[in-house]
Amino acid sequence: MSKILVTGGLGYIGSHTVVELVNKGYEVVIVDDLSNSSLCVLDGINKTCNKSVKFEKLDLRNIKFTKDFIENNKDIDGVIHFAASKAVGESIENPLKYYSNNLFSLINLSEALKDLNKPIKFIFSSSATVYGDPEILPITENESIKVAESPYGNTKQIGEEILYDLTQSNSDFKVISLRYFNPIGAHISAEIGELPIGIPQNLVPFITQTAIGKRKELVVFGDDYPTKDGSCIRDFIHVVDLANAHIKSLEYLNKITKPNFYDTFNIGTGHGSSVFDLINSFEIVTNQKLKYKVGKRRKGDVGECYANVNKANKILNWKSKLSIEDSLLSAWNWEKKINNEKL
Ligand code: NAD
Ligand code: WQD
Repeated sequence: MSKILVTGGLGYIGSHTVVELVNKGYEVVIVDDLSNSSLCVLDGINKTCNKSVKFEKLDLRNIKFTKDFIENNKDIDGVIHFAASKAVGESIENPLKYYSNNLFSLINLSEALKDLNKPIKFIFSSSATVYGDPEILPITENESIKVAESPYGNTKQIGEEILYDLTQSNSDFKVISLRYFNPIGAHISAEIGELPIGIPQNLVPFITQTAIGKRKELVVFGDDYPTKDGSCIRDFIHVVDLANAHIKSLEYLNKITKPNFYDTFNIGTGHGSSVFDLINSFEIVTNQKLKYKVGKRRKGDVGECYANVNKANKILNWKSKLSIEDSLLSAWNWEKKINNEKL
């Protein structure tokens, strides 16, 4: 069976993807520098799939260690590259950290893979943030790429360009960039989930931390957008559905025979939900009353962002299956689990 390297595999999306890969029979090796994760995640992965998954602590910014690692793992034939720093606000305060980590990691990894001189399937974690404020909804892959709102967003745009150029110059690389919309939720086992450090910037971990009593109240960032209820609309996708899109992408790349292959796909549900929709669904599925108030708009937020996923449905043969309710319940079960059992 195919051996897949998962960089950033102890992170939120990476850990869920590792579980899905192992359950489908792939051999997996994880690298992660633990800058935004913890070794406990490896235990959660191993428990969930009842296997001991290989892990090596590695900072991809170090070219020598990265080359040594790849040289010792010559038999990999696919890479899913999650490793990156991802906090939008922090990237505005400390842009060099983001350019350095997100771009050097990608370049070093690509250099090391190039030295193998063998065909490599490569999946890159991109983001809907590349579309900025969209002109047409739902957003297709033909939507124009806007000037990035943050250095973080810019690293995703540049990352896509680096990989496109690489595929055009080197026929060993076949690359898919997946543009994720808003991943939420946790594994149904509640053994793995999202572990935000400090105050969560994203909506769902803020909701679950408020409900459990760690945060006083949720602030809804604006109710004066031109949407059905005035709050922002996003395409919230269950992280396990998102994880499975990576497997469908690997399967698709297996079938591609033409050289210099590069393509991009939106990965969302195709449906927009508002911030108030999410709060209401959370209250219903968990039977909890959530404390919240309406505040000012957050700088950089767009009113509406949701995907047209026809391309991924047709070409990758992938579709999201789980509902917002599944996502919110799993996120809540995970929050309860980590509060009873400090990780
Ligand atoms: P995460 O922070 O949970 O996972 C990233 C992992 O990479 C972490 O475990 C971190 O320790 C590791 N890492 C960071 N720098 C590294 C380095 N130099 N060497 C080795 N490991 C390193 O983030 P996530 O939410 O799982 O996101 C995964 C990927 O998806 C990222 O590239 C992110 O930009 C992208 N993405 C995330 C979202 C989202 O909302 N979570 C949306 C769109 C795109
Ligand atoms: C969702 C909605 C907020 C928190 C971000 C990144 C994006 C991508 C995914 C990586 C928005 C509202 C939030 C709160 C709120 N990441 N909100 N109160 O901003 O769509 O996307 O994560 O690539 O690049 O920007 O996600 O979860 O932060 O916000 O009202 O306390 O919830 O205004 O409308 P976002 P989010």
